[in-house]
Formats: sequence, C-alpha cells, structure tokens
Amino acid sequence: MQKLREEIGKVLAPLVEMEASQVLELLEVPPEPEYGDLAFPCFTLAKKMKKSPPAIAKELGDKLSGQKGRLWEKAEPRGPYLNFYIAPKNYSFEVLKKVWEEEEQFGHTNIGNGQNVTIDYSSPNIAKPFGVGHIRSTVIGHSLYLIYRALGYSSIGINHLGDWGTQFGKLIVAFKHWGEEGKLKEDPVDYLYRLYVQFHQEVEENPDLDDEARSWFKRLESGDQEAVSYWEHFRKLSLEAYASIYSRLGIEFEYYHGESHYNQMLDRVINLVQEQGIAKESEGALIVDLEQYDLPPVMLRKKDGATLYITRDLAAAIYRKETFDFARSLYVVGAEQTLHFQQLFKVLELLGFEWASNCVHVPFGMIRFKEGRMSTRAGKIILLEEVLDRAVEMAREIIEEKNPDLENKDSAAEAVGLGAVRFGDLSNDRVKNIEFDWEKVLDFSGETAAYIQYAHARICSIIRKAGSDLPAWDDNAASLLEKEEEITLVKTLAQLPEKIFDSAESYKPSILARYLIDVAREFNRFYHNCPVLSSEPGVQQARLLLINATRQVLANGLGLLGIVAPEEM
Ligand code: ARG
Repeated sequence: MQKLREEIGKVLAPLVEMEASQVLELLEVPPEPEYGDLAFPCFTLAKKMKKSPPAIAKELGDKLSGQKGRLWEKAEPRGPYLNFYIAPKNYSFEVLKKVWEEEEQFGHTNIGNGQNVTIDYSSPNIAKPFGVGHIRSTVIGHSLYLIYRALGYSSIGINHLGDWGTQFGKLIVAFKHWGEEGKLKEDPVDYLYRLYVQFHQEVEENPDLDDEARSWFKRLESGDQEAVSYWEHFRKLSLEAYASIYSRLGIEFEYYHGESHYNQMLDRVINLVQEQGIAKESEGALIVDLEQYDLPPVMLRKKDGATLYITRDLAAAIYRKETFDFARSLYVVGAEQTLHFQQLFKVLELLGFEWASNCVHVPFGMIRFKEGRMSTRAGKIILLEEVLDRAVEMAREIIEEKNPDLENKDSAAEAVGLGAVRFGDLSNDRVKNIEFDWEKVLDFSGETAAYIQYAHARICSIIRKAGSDLPAWDDNAASLLEKEEEITLVKTLAQLPEKIFDSAESYKPSILARYLIDVAREFNRFYHNCPVLSSEPGVQQARLLLINATRQVLANGLGLLGIVAPEEM
C-alpha cells in the first residue's frame, strides 16, 4: 500500500505542483471499491488553479489517460476525485512477497524510532476488588502496549497500584481485630477485600474504629515500624496474587510503581506549585484554582497535611518524564476519571511543562455482564479470575462438542476462552459501555475471537494437508490470482500496517479488532468460492501462498490484541 502511494505521489506531484509527500498526505481510501483503491481529492487545488475540483480531476484524468504505473493500471476522474485502480498482478506480487519475507514482523514498522511511551494500565487498588474497570484497563492497556512496541516505540508498562491511602489504616485495624494469617495467605486479594467490607460494617456499631484506623494510617505515614510491616505484608501478598493473573494473560509490567512510590516526591511537588505561584492556601488546605479553565479546583494538600490521589499523580507524571523522557504518556483509565486527568494535565501545563500535551488519558466505558451466572448487580463484584475461568470452561465445552478428537483441548480452550474475554472488550469502541454476553463472545460464527481463530486454524489445516508446514515461494504465483475474491483478500491483507498505525494514533485497538473480522470474513468468502487443494497445481500454489499470508496477518493481528492463535481447535 505504501509503495502504491509513493508511486502515485511521484506521478501526481509535477502535475499539481506539489511535493510528492504532500500528495501522499492527501490520498484517501475511497468508501466503495468501485471508486478505485486510492483517491486524490482535488479540493485543495481549486484556489491555486482557479478551477472547480471536478474540472481539476477531469484535467488530471485526461493527462494520465492511457498511462499506468507498476502498481496501478488506470486513473479515472469521478466528481472532485481522481481515482486510481491497482494493477492486480503486480500488486498481489508485492503484498504476498512482503508478508512472505517479513513473517511475524509484517505490519510492524519503526516510526517510533525507539522513543519511550509510558503506558499506565491495569492499576488495581489493594483491598478493593479487581473490578470490571480494571479488566478493561488491563486488556486495552496491554494491547496498546503491544501495538506501540510493534511501531518501534519502546513501550514501558507501569502498574500504578493503589497501594497507599486511608484504607490501609482500616485494614490494619480489621486484621488486628478479626484477621487470620492462614486465610490471608490463601486468597489475599479476596480476603483483604472482605476485611475491608467487615470494617465498614463494624464501624456502624462502633465508631471508635474509625479513629483507630486514622491513627494507624498516621503511624504508617510517619514510618512507624509495625504499621509499615503490615502494609508491606498486605502489599506483597496482593502483588503475588496479581502476578499470577497477569502471567496467565501473558502480561509483564516494566514497573510496579504504585502510588506509594511517589511519597518521597510529594514535598517537591508542593514546593514547585508554590514557587510557580499557581496555588493558594485556603483554610489550611493547598488549592489550585482552575476556574478560568472551567474546571473545579484541585486540592493538593488537606488541612491535616494529608496529600491526595492527584498529588501523587502530579509527582508520577514528573517522575516519568524525568526518568523515561517519554514521547507520549498514556493513562488507560475509565471515563469516570476524565475530570481528574483534565485537572492533572492542566496543572502540569500551568507548571510550565510543555510535555503536558504529550500526556493522554485513554478513557473507556463500563462493562455490564448480562443476566445469568455472572450478572453485575449493585454490591456484587466480578472478579477477573472468575471471568477467565468461566470463559475457558465454556470454550472447553464448545470445543469438546465441535472437535472431540482434538489433542490439545486444554490449551485450545485457554486460548479461545481468554481470547473471547479480550476480544469481547477490544472489538467495541472503547468509549462505549458494553454489555458482556457470554453466548455472544463465544459464538464461533459471530464477530468474535473464536471466529478469527477458527479461520486461522482452518488455514493451518489446509496447509498441513497440502503436505508441508509452509508452501514454497514462487515468483509467478501471484500472477495466477485473478478471481475477484482473491484480489479482494489480497487488498484486505495489505491494510494491516495502516490499521496498526491507526489503532495506535487513536488509541483504539478496536480498529485492529474490527479489521481482523474483515480479514476472516474475506478469507471465508474466498474459500467458499475458490477451492485450494483441489485446484490445478499452479493455482493451488498461488492460493496456498495467499492463505498462508492470511494466516500470518491473522496471527500477527491477534497477537497485538494479546490473543493466541492456535493451529488446531
Ligand atoms: N488505582 C486507580 C483506580 O483504580 C487507577 C489508577 C490510574 N492511574 C493513575 N495514574 N491515576 O481507580
């Protein structure tokens, strides 16, 4: 696709008196295939050439009539556009060859040039449930992590754990009164949450508990040994439990810098804000007024001296810039924190940090689980592990039924189950609320991971039946691809690089996810109309190369969504 663009850029540049690179920026993919494969819009030229855009398109069309390039075979005006049509044989050759050579690197580029991108994601709160919002952050953040890496950025995953705050005072009190070490060790995440809930129940009867908790948190903040060792113990056990979920999901963070990591830096932040003169004291509290930006005021220090979530986020942002010199800094956090991030970025800007504009909140909507065995009702929390287990269990039942002789049922079920959870999330525009429907996310013929994984496994099986792991490369094969279904599939495969790029630029893995559905669909349409193994040898070879390229595109794309593509299922 890029080569095609460049060719067109070269031809058009002298005709329109522009740089080839400017032409490239203007080229668009037409909405309908009958309007060609790339279109040059003539609107911007109207002023310069003192003609209407359709007249310009027509004039350019006349100049290019009868001409063709290596990768395009004709250019035709249509309304204000000049439409270019690919030369199918050369184009197919280029696409198949590129996928063949680049293999698992196909679609990857180096536009990031090694620059750092920090991605703050997952970030659960100790003693509070790993909730649905954290599932979304984990899945979306991890995919962005992989996508940025594929573009040559150096992705830095940061788990901004909620590991500081008054809840630790409450936990210490609850554990001292009612806690049991054995139960804590067994399932720390769940048990700490139970203690937290119990604390809130007991405090109704016995308000003194609140004072006790406050005084324990004070002790913790001032570094009291006993308090610190409880905190460390809770934190360590929780981290171990999270780590096992992350490893099941194939996720590794570069840093577990939770909120506590920034405690040492808060004085500096407060000083900075005061030096810049953007804060004022109000009844003993320290506040940044943002009224002229239509934002509510930010409190950085309470009158009792305690700092807040946003104070730690200010410190974290500065720390990340100083430590990693990021090109971009992403925060994959639910839409309910939009205001928080607007305030945060505004304060950074007022502090004179130009890089504040490279900080991006990547918000997302909520998931609701449909009624049934795991519905989300008020007060009932959904635990990530339960969701994963349930999905894998259901996947296993389906596989058992569809393919009873399969050897690696366990690993296939794990891939399909986890894929269903991830894709059920990632295939939706992230800002929308989604309703998670078990039947739907595991439907092998719906818009699901299983649908894509199944196309992938099917291709693997055809290639195996053809007698080798990989079809051999053949320079002439592409010229035998003539059917409309074949050419459409080739064109679809060629889009992977730009889909990856677009996903990164808009922070939307859903673009890639939707695209993979298209690829699987085009493959099925092709396979329905064009036999592979029963066609004559030359065509068979060409089609094997085509489906092998399809397999590669599906695997590469799924990989960037964090989804495994099994060879059999
Ligand atoms: N722990 C927070 C929560 O669960 C999310 C943290 C997001 N990251 C950040 N830098 N504020 O709401």
